[in-house]
Amino acid sequence: MGKESILVRGNKTLSGEVKISGAKNSALKLMAASLLGQGQSTIQNVPDISDIAIMSDVLRRLGASVQRIDHSLLIDTSAVDSFSTPYELVSRMRASISVLGPLIGRFGQAQVAMPGGCQIGARKIDMHLVGLESLGVLFEVDHGTLIATTPDGLRGAHVVLEFPSVGATENMLMAAVVAEGSTVIENAAREPEIVDLCNMLCDMGARISGAGTANIEVEGVPLSSLHPCVHETIGDRIEAGTFLAGGALTGGPVTVQGIDPDYLRMAIMKLKAMGCVVSCGEDYITVSRNGDLTSTDIQTLPHPGFPTDLQAQFMLLASLADGISVITENVFENRFMFASELMRMGADITLEDHHAIVRGAGALQGAPVSSTDLRAGAALVLAGIVAEGYTTVYDIQHIDRGYEDYVGKLRSLGADVTRTDAPAQV
Ligand code: UD1
Repeated sequence: MGKESILVRGNKTLSGEVKISGAKNSALKLMAASLLGQGQSTIQNVPDISDIAIMSDVLRRLGASVQRIDHSLLIDTSAVDSFSTPYELVSRMRASISVLGPLIGRFGQAQVAMPGGCQIGARKIDMHLVGLESLGVLFEVDHGTLIATTPDGLRGAHVVLEFPSVGATENMLMAAVVAEGSTVIENAAREPEIVDLCNMLCDMGARISGAGTANIEVEGVPLSSLHPCVHETIGDRIEAGTFLAGGALTGGPVTVQGIDPDYLRMAIMKLKAMGCVVSCGEDYITVSRNGDLTSTDIQTLPHPGFPTDLQAQFMLLASLADGISVITENVFENRFMFASELMRMGADITLEDHHAIVRGAGALQGAPVSSTDLRAGAALVLAGIVAEGYTTVYDIQHIDRGYEDYVGKLRSLGADVTRTDAPAQV
């Protein structure tokens, strides 16, 4: 278990407004994309979280200078002279693999340590490789390092992805923008973060159309015509969805500011199906609830389906709803570790393969629990807020990967949560 923990006093409600940070899953890829525009790019609205610090280290190791000023990152990639990312960095954060596409785009070659499996499943990269191979990249693996070369240069191709993988779509995009000729990515991921990446690449001089649809077309341009840019990261829909789940759990009202409600259409539909009142403006969403939570079935799917990154938070809601909910995880194998921690707090959940049958438990009891991953950790803190008594959430380094000042934001909504340096004793 990690050293730090979060102590939560239960039986609390959450209400008020919270400012949502920039999207982790966008900012990481925008940082990788900056490798293609030689010079200083500025990426605004970048969350201050540990995954961003790791990606900064990845870029520095390649020769870039990265400076944070408040929520902007100034990234100068003019001196980048390495195309190698070692295991020591990739093992700290799997998303380091997203430098593969831009390094190939910039140098025609790359050496990136193979990411291992992680706690939410095998998380293979076969689709990244198949997609890049179609663009003319040759791969070999040497002692755990992926060696990419392009003996005949990068050339555009028509690629059909087996599954709309976010990471594979992004890596392909960041190579295809400088390939000779045009590329079509069919069955591309449609996540808002893909659109954000394409917008930044276009700001840099790339020619992309169809971002946000299942067919993305890229007209390759010479590397020399890509330039640095200033780009603002979109709001984090998963952070917003987490605080909305908190509002739904306790009754709210909770307002999340700085998020386009369009990114959360399916989650909003499910909140309404569970008995919540949701109202939206251009860049905010408010949730409240007067009656009981009611059960609903949820299945995770690629965007615009229900996001896997909100599955744990909504399993928590289901565990306190009247009736039985069936939650089906279709995106990642092995993403139900959260359920066993929640069961330690009194939730009634039966796991059957990739389905969770959740029977409303009426109430939860505080208990010591461990964050099994980033989203599970955030959901366990929410569980502690409505549980009877005290909850200590361990392994909170996972939460720090993706939530800026989670404890501070929850406190501003009225939660009694405290970060402790040593394992908390109640
Ligand atoms: C990204 C997000 C993650 C989110 C996920 C799905 C980042 C840093 N992470 O992860 O928070 O949960 O999208 O919305 O942006 N797969 C393969 N082979 C491949 C690629 C993927 O089998 O080559 C499988 C994965 O194991 C997984 C599924 O496809 O089961 C989805 O993966 P993908 O969409 O690629 O997610 P990530 O980009 O890893």
